[in-house]
Amino acid sequence: MPENAFHSQQYDLAVDTISNADLEELIGWMRAYPRLTMADVTKEFEAAWAGWLGVKYAVMCNSGSSANLLMYAALESSRTVSSKSILVPATGWATTLMPAVQLGWQPTMCESDIRTFGMDPQRLEELVKRERPEAIILVHVLGVPCDMTSILELQKKYGFQILEDCCASHGARHQGRLVGTFGAMSSFSFYYGHHMSTVEGGIVCTNDEQLYFHLLMARSHGWLKDLPPQEAARYMELHKVDAFRAPFTFVIPGYNLRPTDINAKLGLIQLRKLDDTIRRRIANHKQYQQLLQGLVDFAPGLPGDTISSISFCAVARSTAERRAFVTALDQHKIDTRIFTAGNLGRHPFWSDRYGAFSAPVADRLHACGFFLPNNQSLEPADITAICKVIREVRAV
Ligand SMILES: Cc1ncc(COP(=O)(O)O)c(C=O)c1O
Repeated sequence: MPENAFHSQQYDLAVDTISNADLEELIGWMRAYPRLTMADVTKEFEAAWAGWLGVKYAVMCNSGSSANLLMYAALESSRTVSSKSILVPATGWATTLMPAVQLGWQPTMCESDIRTFGMDPQRLEELVKRERPEAIILVHVLGVPCDMTSILELQKKYGFQILEDCCASHGARHQGRLVGTFGAMSSFSFYYGHHMSTVEGGIVCTNDEQLYFHLLMARSHGWLKDLPPQEAARYMELHKVDAFRAPFTFVIPGYNLRPTDINAKLGLIQLRKLDDTIRRRIANHKQYQQLLQGLVDFAPGLPGDTISSISFCAVARSTAERRAFVTALDQHKIDTRIFTAGNLGRHPFWSDRYGAFSAPVADRLHACGFFLPNNQSLEPADITAICKVIREVRAV
């Protein structure tokens, strides 16, 4: 079977990062009859990932969405926050916000920054003053780092916890520092088409030991069984349970969001290629920015930041122009789609509850944003060919 055999277009938005060689290695490992449910290989991958990112702890789970859910759950059960008021971004992904709705938080939506498409620090400050939230969750939208310097200044001034959704921004850097290392916790996705894939998979990262323990419990039924012995002993003492009962003592309201060791084994295999994939995506993104300057809008990112995208977000001047771009891309067999979810505050899950959210940048992205392919299979000549199609539409 040829590599990337699932191609349906000349240029797909997403291609698999799992090669035949990766599958051969996985199959070889499986033939040795390892344990397949979550066990030592998951721990090995978590340690390797934490090392790659430069954080103390990582907890793997079954998707990026589950990783987001776990961050909310751990923040609450560890009593890191005493109120459930949270600021959420207007652009990003639906499951960045949905746990707030599901778990009974009071979310307030924040406008996007024209430079990054992430949370706008100015609007953020206005909302923080008004809402006094104890937490914010931000998204580094499509690998463009948020203005973390300004957001960290706000954190210092007002004191709130930061959750970082890095599900589509592996390897992006703000002023040299990897995204995912700024917040109390950060989430990554390993779904198909992302920087690396474990088929389905995600991970939460933190430097906070207590949050780590709560993530371990929340991932697996809320039980004590997955805690390191010393921490389990503390709960045994607190709740007066003996060693026989302890593993199946349920301390917090948990879930089952576990990965399998199969996913983790794939993660270890994929991690070896991650830096190369990131390098390719960074180079492709830069080339798009150079070739599309003046033809479409896009998030330039902040000077000194590194953008590591999984798709290039282009913004047309109007919805009609977006239609023309999409038609031309389609004719040339170049995969495209709307920009992520556009303005999340215009989707029924949000507007049915809180009313539609409207703000200039989020609305513009909703009406005019579209994706161009960026993945590790694309070479400079491919990016040039894709940009030529955009240029031709603008010339008409
Ligand atoms: C910003 C962001 N958050 C969360 C997710 C959800 O990740 P998953 O598909 O692994 O659940 C995605 C998926 O693309 C995403 O882009």
